[in-house]
Amino acid sequence: MDKNFERTLVTCALPYANGPVHIGHLAGVYVPADIYVRYLRLRGEDVLFICGSDEHGVPITIKAKKQGCTPQDVVDKYHNIIKHSFAGLGINFDIYSRTTSDTHHRNAAAFFRRLYEDGKFIEKESEQYYDEEAKTFLADRYIVGTCPKCGNEGAYGDQCEKCGSTLSPDELINPKSALSGGELVKKTTKHWYLPLDQYEGWLKEWILEGHKEWKTNVYGQCKSWLDGGLQPRAVSRDLDWGVPVPVEGAEGKVLYVWFDAPIGYISNTMELLPQSWEKWWKSGDTKLVHFIGKDNIVFHCIVFPSMLKADGTYILPDNVPANEFLNLEGDKISTSKNWAVWLNEYLEEFPDKEDVLRYVLCANAPETKDNDFTWKDFQARNNSELVAIFGNFVNRAVVLTHKYFAGKVPANLKPEPIDAETLSQIPAIRKSIGENIENYKFREALKEAMNIARIGNKYLTDTEPWKVAKTDMDRTASILNVSLQLCADLAVAFEPFLPFSAEKLRKILNVGISAGFDHRAGEEGSIKDNMFKDGESAALHTSGGVQSEGLVLSWESLGNDVILPEGHLLGEPVLLFSKIEDSVVEAQVNKLKEAKAANEAAAKAAEVLKAAPQKAGCTFEDFEKMDIRTATVLEAERVPKTDKLLKLTIDTGIDKRTIVSGIAEYYTPEQMLGRQICILANLAPRKIRGIESKGMILMARQPDGKMRFITPEETLTNGAEIG
Ligand code: MF3
Ligand code: ZN
Repeated sequence: MDKNFERTLVTCALPYANGPVHIGHLAGVYVPADIYVRYLRLRGEDVLFICGSDEHGVPITIKAKKQGCTPQDVVDKYHNIIKHSFAGLGINFDIYSRTTSDTHHRNAAAFFRRLYEDGKFIEKESEQYYDEEAKTFLADRYIVGTCPKCGNEGAYGDQCEKCGSTLSPDELINPKSALSGGELVKKTTKHWYLPLDQYEGWLKEWILEGHKEWKTNVYGQCKSWLDGGLQPRAVSRDLDWGVPVPVEGAEGKVLYVWFDAPIGYISNTMELLPQSWEKWWKSGDTKLVHFIGKDNIVFHCIVFPSMLKADGTYILPDNVPANEFLNLEGDKISTSKNWAVWLNEYLEEFPDKEDVLRYVLCANAPETKDNDFTWKDFQARNNSELVAIFGNFVNRAVVLTHKYFAGKVPANLKPEPIDAETLSQIPAIRKSIGENIENYKFREALKEAMNIARIGNKYLTDTEPWKVAKTDMDRTASILNVSLQLCADLAVAFEPFLPFSAEKLRKILNVGISAGFDHRAGEEGSIKDNMFKDGESAALHTSGGVQSEGLVLSWESLGNDVILPEGHLLGEPVLLFSKIEDSVVEAQVNKLKEAKAANEAAAKAAEVLKAAPQKAGCTFEDFEKMDIRTATVLEAERVPKTDKLLKLTIDTGIDKRTIVSGIAEYYTPEQMLGRQICILANLAPRKIRGIESKGMILMARQPDGKMRFITPEETLTNGAEIG
């Protein structure tokens, strides 16, 4: 760690609590951050790892409306799912709290209030679109209309997804409310703005001059924002879900979600460490690192730092290692289209395979460009890397030791040059893993760690202890001694990447690890409700401080020639990894295909509805003319020489009559017998194929074109009037 820093504060983007976390989030943000934190802890650094749910914002209120529940219900549900699934994957935050917490509401309001009183905001009235039916101002996203650039009729007020243009609601042709579908009016409303333009010069200096070491994608995005010129940004919204704007006369207004959410990092720190949080946020010897996805860059590099700067008492991020996006089977991950692999489902469907996902996501992390996750690659990396290289090497070394030396590390009785040559490669690997992680190059670091297993495998192939054992036990002892040292190297090197397997391996080797200390216990005054509860994750036990008994490894052990001393008794050999069969990944691909098919059906349905818009108005008198009644089918037969027509005899309660109906494509005569249906009884009689038809059966057309008749929920008297 850099000389000037005493401690590291690591934050991960607070996920929106309106859905579970998926592999895109994990690969971009949470897995790399967890590796970083585990590595620093392993090195004895003081690290604080902060996250929580982002529970405000318009989408959550819309979801609640759709589901007929409150926004609080929505966030309660997903907060719990997300929190547990992170723990299940061994992502060990010191605290995972939420922006609906009291601490956060108080802190975010106080933050705003300080800036407000300090005159850091501009107050401005403006005209905003208002939905009179839904009685609410609309976020840009909830205004739809025709794109002025490409003519797409379903463009949003902030963006056209067809041509990709950034839009403002005023540019839309024929803007309508996406909530109610109704017309919009413009109303005047007052909001507070952070004048980012005033921070432009400072930001240019700080980022473009001061942080040339930031990742190219991050630096590049910052540069293009700064070159384009910054505008004042509204930090409040007309909405009833969020942190109320703490100013008189601001009823019905809340802080903009992107204003309050990053303050959540601070609030969650306060909640965990009510006495010492300031040391983490206000002390120049703290290194602050934000792990985020690329869509969050502007907020973490430009907006939030400007907020912190406006306050003036906070430190700024030292780095913001944002990743690009992970695609899934060649397509963009989409929450709304259910094109995703959800962490909570993965953990259920792949018990004891947490590390396989961690491995694959790190190996494919979209560090410099978008990357792709495929189930085939997942299987291949498991079977031909984890099983065939890592697992196979450890298993051979350990099983042979049990076989020939009763599970004890044999003495190095007969060394040969290949032994020293092999072991001498490890210190450089240790250095490289460290440097890569410190520079946020996690894929490269993982590759280096894996090289230890490759070296081990090659060593066994070259030395063939199973053959040597037939003639030379002394030499066999040396080979296994060296192999076991390499196993111990693996147990240390993989602790940041694959904590579950590293722990398993340490059990096999009968060693502990000094994995540093965390802050999950909080301190006096912490709100216990948000604390880590025991049993949430197996991997949590690996970073609980130094084990007092037995042999304890540390980062410094890695690369030593003798880590496990002669005579050290190993534990039971178990398999670290197991093969994943074709059928398992095929089932996952099918699950995705089904999701896609369901989506396409829904899109088609939407199109059908669009093609049949509401008809022109009719009066109550028009409606009253129609005599709609319940009736029962008594007889049904096909009309000869036709495909579509059934001749039905029905009991209308008034009479028995014949109706000819074009439903033979959808129902057989047998299916119609005895059914209760609804009919338009007073439709003028018509002759169809020579048969007099008196009335019409009411049918509903499905998006796929299929017709279904309407049956009362319970059997009614025939002839009951409908209206
Ligand atoms: N909820 C946002 C997202 O998922 C991230 C918020 S990060 C924070 O894109 F800094 F605002 F907390
Ligand atoms: Zn467009």
